[in-house]
Amino acid sequence: MKIAVIGAGHIGHTLGQKWSKSGYTIYYGVREPEHGKYAHLHESGQVCSIVDALTPARVVLLAIPGDAVMEFVEEYTEALNGKLIIDATNNIRGGPMNNLELLYEKTANTQLVRAFSTLGWENFENPVVNGQQVDLFYCGHSGASPITEKLIADVGLRPVYLGPLEKADLVDGLTKVWFELVFEQGHVRRLMLKMVEEIVS
Ligand SMILES: NC(=O)c1ccc[n+]([C@@H]2O[C@H](COP(=O)([O-])OP(=O)(O)OC[C@H]3O[C@@H](n4cnc5c(N)ncnc54)[C@H](OP(=O)(O)O)[C@@H]3O)[C@@H](O)[C@H]2O)c1
Repeated sequence: MKIAVIGAGHIGHTLGQKWSKSGYTIYYGVREPEHGKYAHLHESGQVCSIVDALTPARVVLLAIPGDAVMEFVEEYTEALNGKLIIDATNNIRGGPMNNLELLYEKTANTQLVRAFSTLGWENFENPVVNGQQVDLFYCGHSGASPITEKLIADVGLRPVYLGPLEKADLVDGLTKVWFELVFEQGHVRRLMLKMVEEIVS
């Protein structure tokens, strides 16, 4: 499967590397593909223009700053048509944390997912904390779940589905818990939120 990773920073590169190792074809869509600062990306994917990354991809990971998404969607509306889009962006300066409504309104025939937004990237790079697998809470279009769960598992995380897109506030609430613990209460960034349930046989 071909994946367009839009934004090749902490989140984009970490997930791109993991997915490349799992056998997916990664296209890093960046603004200046010829720039030397992207040299490190070549071992896990092709570095290309944003439109060249989007065109062949089945899945699009959106990992750019939250406040850049509006302009991005306006510019690439057509190229996003029909894709499964994973919104990992956070609007940290206020308003809704996610960009799902914008993506829903401006794109056509897409399946939208909210994932990889609740925890620091270090937990995606190394998805085991104190010997326990990191859980990733996500929501989205139910038709997108099989692919999404596989992509989450391929990173080494355990997927926990919270429901359709309408549940994005729940997912983003967990992000706020993580932010509170790490940025306000001083906990380490290698911190996960875990669902623990009794096994009833
Ligand atoms: N860091 C985390 O732990 C974490 C966790 C969960 C979610 N998130 C969210 O994930 C997103 C990415 O975070 P990050 O930490 O990976 O950021 P980052 O390391 O700063 O990387 C951001 C990437 O986005 C690109 N970019 C910036 N503006 C762009 C635009 N207008 N159009 C296209 N590309 C653009 C940058 O490209 P250039 O190099 O060309 O500037 C860079 O490759 C953010 O929305 C963040 O809130 C972050």
